[in-house]
Amino acid sequence: MPATRTRNKLADLGAVAAGLAHEIRNPLNSLYINGQLLEEMLSELPEKGVPQKEDLLSLARANLKVTQRLNDTLSGFLRFARPPAMELALVDLNRIVSETLRFLETELAYRGILLKTKLCPTPLPVLADEKLLKQALLNLLLNAQQAIDKEEKEIRVTTGVRAGRPFVRIRDNGRGIPPSDRRNIFRLFFTTRKNGSGLGLPIVRQIVRQHGGAVYVRSREGQGTTMTVALLFEEQFRAMFPGRLPLALPEGGRQ
Ligand SMILES: Nc1ncnc2c1ncn2[C@@H]1O[C@H](COP(=O)(O)OP(=O)(O)O)[C@@H](O)[C@H]1O
Ligand SMILES: [Mg+2]
Repeated sequence: MPATRTRNKLADLGAVAAGLAHEIRNPLNSLYINGQLLEEMLSELPEKGVPQKEDLLSLARANLKVTQRLNDTLSGFLRFARPPAMELALVDLNRIVSETLRFLETELAYRGILLKTKLCPTPLPVLADEKLLKQALLNLLLNAQQAIDKEEKEIRVTTGVRAGRPFVRIRDNGRGIPPSDRRNIFRLFFTTRKNGSGLGLPIVRQIVRQHGGAVYVRSREGQGTTMTVALLFEEQFRAMFPGRLPLALPEGGRQ
């Protein structure tokens, strides 16, 4: 089949899946609300008259949990299938990175993870949707945090310029990615974690590509993983997407 036809078919399939997910959402919400109600009613039953009360309650709670998880998966998938429109502004990548880190600082310290940050001494002007870019970085940082299995826990974050392009690099000293998993990690719903969703990296890649960038992975099993997000400088972005030029807003001009 020619490549464009394959692509069209995939796009159709994506649209159908998104439609289906959307359809499931409302009944799922009712299920959740009814589940909560049921749990409440059961917990108010008198202990004496209903000997199975505890069993019924734990069943109801298990159902609630499953419903909640299904809802999370569905929301994540819809977020992926129908990505929000980008709101671009001129921002400094260094600021985006340090604000994202500030958001996680307490949590990392609490988990005993040493955070080493090395920001490029000069500003890195990029055209970006700040919220989306922060979300992508957060996903990578959470993965890094979850992968760390050593006594000495460490995450290194670096920004800079490589091959003429601005980048941010997140390196952890965690368990690494086995070679057999490498080509799967960006696949939707691929996860090796017990409570994982497999949505994190697909969303990261989608956001980074929307910005004209790319994600590079280097990993050594047992040693750690390095995820590099390479972006475009403002003028490179303008050259690459001449039809999609946003207003040239100054840093912080959109707030
Ligand atoms: N920093 C990392 N170190 C080790 N494995 C990773 C790392 N980041 C991602 N992975 C692997 O890629 C999988 C997919 O990641 P992701 O898409 O974020 O989904 P999730 O975090 O829900 O599992 C993870 O389950 C894990 O196996
Ligand atoms: Mg993840």
